Amino acid sequence: MLDQRAHRLVNLKDFQTAGGPLSLGRLDLTPPTDEQYILRMVIRSAGDYQIPDELDWVMPLIKLAQEHQKAINANHPYCYVTVRHGIVKSKRDDEWHVDGFSTKTPHNPEQNYIWANTDATEFADLNVTFPDDFDPRVHNINHYLEQFVEEVQKADDETVYCMDPYILHRRPSSTTGTQRTFVRISFVPIEIDDILNTPNPLLPRTYTNDGLKFRSQLITY
Ligand SMILES: [Fe+2]
Repeated sequence: MLDQRAHRLVNLKDFQTAGGPLSLGRLDLTPPTDEQYILRMVIRSAGDYQIPDELDWVMPLIKLAQEHQKAINANHPYCYVTVRHGIVKSKRDDEWHVDGFSTKTPHNPEQNYIWANTDATEFADLNVTFPDDFDPRVHNINHYLEQFVEEVQKADDETVYCMDPYILHRRPSSTTGTQRTFVRISFVPIEIDDILNTPNPLLPRTYTNDGLKFRSQLITY
């Protein structure tokens, strides 16, 4: 399912058979003592991987994700790492949302590999048909999808899941202010140009877009 739609352009029709995330099994990661917050740090842009030492502890997840990308024959040039290790202070990720759904430029779907030590991500298995006049460049897709959530499914702790832009998910809101470790490795077909990205000193990029501003302009269908 997820491996098949990896090879066709991002589209609304694939929400009719969204399914759940793919479990890749348990994985032990040993986070550093100090807290660490990294948002979409680029570790690859077409060339070799450039991974700062601070991310050594994430390497087992990166390797597993790379192997799975190979297995499903997805060859995205960009790779990003997000780490939220410490008191949960991220906002809005406890609202139902999908990651990387965009039809602005036609492209194949990205794949995200996620892992949490505790209170892992919640999912909903959706089968949604959109009205003909729904335009994801105008309408907020998360707002539309959340009304179809019937049963909340919970991911297992310390377990790797692969998901794509068709999987609706959220951080459990009960985790706000608690101690938690979350990691996400994203394999993406086009560069994420967002000034909020944490820079990688080994792989400098110039960002100009304010992604948050764009997303807040979308209207509810
Ligand atoms: Fe997400």
